[in-house]
Amino acid sequence: MKITVRHGQIQNINTAALIVNLFEGQNPSGATAAIDQALNKHISFVIQQGDFRGTKNQTLLLYTYNQIPAKRVLLVGLGRQEDFNVESARQAAGTAVHALEDLDIQSATTVLHGGGAGNLDAATAAQALAEASILAAYRFNIYNSTGKGSPLKKITIIEFDKSKITAIRRGVRNGSHIATGTCLARDLANHPGAVATPKFLAQQARTLAKNSDLTCQVIDEKGMQRLGMEAILGVSQGSNQPARFIILEHNRQKSKRPLVFVGKGLTYDSGGLSLKTGEGLMDMKFDMCGAAAVMGAMQTVSALKLPNYIVGLIPASENMINGQAIKPGDVLNTLSGKTIEVLNTDAEGRLILADTLAYADRYEPAGVVDLATLTGACVTALGHHASGMVSNDPGLAEQVQAAGEACHERVWPLPLWPEYREQIKSNIADMKNIGGRPAGAITAAALLAEFVTYPWVHLDIAGTAWNASKKPYISKGGVGVGTRLLVELARHWQPPT
Ligand code: BES
Ligand code: ZN
Ligand code: ZN
Repeated sequence: MKITVRHGQIQNINTAALIVNLFEGQNPSGATAAIDQALNKHISFVIQQGDFRGTKNQTLLLYTYNQIPAKRVLLVGLGRQEDFNVESARQAAGTAVHALEDLDIQSATTVLHGGGAGNLDAATAAQALAEASILAAYRFNIYNSTGKGSPLKKITIIEFDKSKITAIRRGVRNGSHIATGTCLARDLANHPGAVATPKFLAQQARTLAKNSDLTCQVIDEKGMQRLGMEAILGVSQGSNQPARFIILEHNRQKSKRPLVFVGKGLTYDSGGLSLKTGEGLMDMKFDMCGAAAVMGAMQTVSALKLPNYIVGLIPASENMINGQAIKPGDVLNTLSGKTIEVLNTDAEGRLILADTLAYADRYEPAGVVDLATLTGACVTALGHHASGMVSNDPGLAEQVQAAGEACHERVWPLPLWPEYREQIKSNIADMKNIGGRPAGAITAAALLAEFVTYPWVHLDIAGTAWNASKKPYISKGGVGVGTRLLVELARHWQPPT
């Protein structure tokens, strides 16, 4: 999907479809009023009939019978003006794309949503529109013999105020890069586990580096043995697919302390000997969505040429059961020197993250954010509407939460009181990898905290990483959650002091 910007009067535009909007309970204003006039009050008429009220994400398609050069007009409801925000603008754009995808057209022209009475500045409104339009047109169809991409290939933003065009172009550029990174994360997530193996993720990271200014280093199992990353190797030892440790760097500045992103890259989680049920196994190709989010974010921070030093660390591993598989009761010696008794092989994410968080220490990071589809308990706690957040640094947590609000990838804090640490005490090792049923999302984070030596935020994305039903701009399957949040965080990054 290509988004372009053009100066002009909306009623004079020749296009297959014009997208205009309406606040709930209001009469047409601005560009919508201009179209209403040109169409002999057609829009006012459908409002009077009660058929279009401008409720949030309501749509109505009108045909213009050559009264104006545009063939069709698509009305999109913005909801009540007092409730309007940048997320409403994204949803309006996504809703419009979905409505037009049912028609036999390839391009459309739109006004900005919320640029005027919505009180969004032009760059913000344009970013929202570009971001959500591209995300709404996303399809994953390479395994479907009849599947096609979205028929909609191009959207032109029309703006009559010349002084806003530069800001709109800037917003479109940002929104396009952010959506493209998110689509990369979705693609990586949606591939079957048989394709997206640790080696595949490493190859994708190398390709990413080749096509950008990022640098990429991949550590194989021999290298991990030399370093002493026994926890990652322990999880992978039951799999025929060897583990990989992937390092992507943006804007490397040796003297500076980076912002580090860590993503759980379990390319398939069978549970190991603590085998999952049939139902539990069904979605476990998505257990690398943390890794996917980090890859998408690294691609985007590079495309946006952000000034900060940013590192992405991805432990990529498969949790399977061959004759060598790790057994409940085994003890692993981690990179940090601390030992973990593995009492449930299905609690493997925290194991590969333990080595990765210890590895991050060598960067003396200003902050680390890890993303992981870590616990079913987090889904029980927060459902599918927020990721769980655990942190050792209130300032960093605040920045992450604000970034999540801004892009509508919401996160919600869970406490990390010392009492939770009691639940992961082991009889024979420094800790055990399960803490019982109570507060499962927190005890998982309590184990991670044992390997952290810097300001840190953990995001449990188990409930937000993939999606069963289509939303205005969120696809079914891999959502790409985390990419937009990490980019938003990096764009406004203030190192904790
Ligand atoms: N990848 C799963 C967590 C998960 C489950 C994510 C369902 C999304 C949906 C993780 O490795 C896991 O299996 N965790 C166990 C931990 C338990 C054994 C302490 C869980 O949540 O059941
Ligand atoms: Zn598991
Ligand atoms: Zn897992």
